[in-house]
Amino acid sequence: MADAADVLFAFADGVERSVSVTAGDTILDAGLAAELPLLYQCRSGSCSSCIAKLVEGETRQAAGHTTLLRSEYEAGMRLLCQTHAVGACRFEMGYDSEAGTVRATKANAFVDEVERIASNVVRLRLELAADNWVDFRPGQFFQISVPGIGAVRSYSPASTPKDLPRLEFLIRLLPGGVMSEWLTDRAKPDDVVEIEGAFGAFFLREKVRAPHILVAGGTGLAPMLSILDALREQSGRRPRMLLSFGCTDPDALFGLDAIMLREQWMPTFRSRISVDRGATGDLLGGTPVDALLPEDVSDPDTVAYLCGPPRMIEAAHARLEALGVKPENIFAEQFVPSETTGVTP
Ligand code: FES
Repeated sequence: MADAADVLFAFADGVERSVSVTAGDTILDAGLAAELPLLYQCRSGSCSSCIAKLVEGETRQAAGHTTLLRSEYEAGMRLLCQTHAVGACRFEMGYDSEAGTVRATKANAFVDEVERIASNVVRLRLELAADNWVDFRPGQFFQISVPGIGAVRSYSPASTPKDLPRLEFLIRLLPGGVMSEWLTDRAKPDDVVEIEGAFGAFFLREKVRAPHILVAGGTGLAPMLSILDALREQSGRRPRMLLSFGCTDPDALFGLDAIMLREQWMPTFRSRISVDRGATGDLLGGTPVDALLPEDVSDPDTVAYLCGPPRMIEAAHARLEALGVKPENIFAEQFVPSETTGVTP
């Protein structure tokens, strides 16, 4: 192996930057040392923020943990914080060079409201404290510190940047989880929480007129509501939008009123709601991936956003590609099982 390799980073807006990466450095470390506008957060293979597509050359994966799915790896995707260059290579970044120039910030926020909205989901509404501010793109995530504990958990807002200084999160309750215990036992209005962000390469690509397919499992609905509302707020003709949302059973469903309202507001939007078991009435039986139909992909430029557990993401990737969606038009954020890293359910 050569001591150093030239790695080219091609951003979606046409900006290209080249960096020499020594054998011992990860590609992310070398890019950040050269002050490239790269998205990242954990630097340990857990959050998928540093994902990029290898289009030329060869790489070697660092030992250790990675949340990269097999289907993503086979499609050329790499987590740059876990990747070494084996000779010259070229990466497509999947976002423009502006995206990585906005640095994450810390802010204090007051609890506005904590409400149980399903058997295992809580809606947390926050309002930024005076003189505190954050910025984000719909789909990105924040880290929230659990008051009194200090542990951080990652969640994507269901609200949009236009709703700031208010932020809304949909949080799945996990048995024994420190965030879950705080939300159910102690959280109350006017408590102060610290948040940091925004992070992540999963966000709405703007000005895309092609049809959008959104696939959400459980609280993966949160970033989809943010993306839908951002599409609603944008000027000009709206694209066709389909949301396929699913939970395990009817008791676990939430957000249906919000979805129905958006169907009334946007004639180009429609939804399908499914449950793994106990489907009645208009509910579909099966997963949100089962609910995708061949006629949903009539445009070769269709874009898809996926958020949910890894198995749902794998299945949705495979199904959408089989239906004709180009791999580069599929953006995914997966929940990771650990409560300590990544975007949690
Ligand atoms: S920064 Fe690479 S996976 Fe989080």
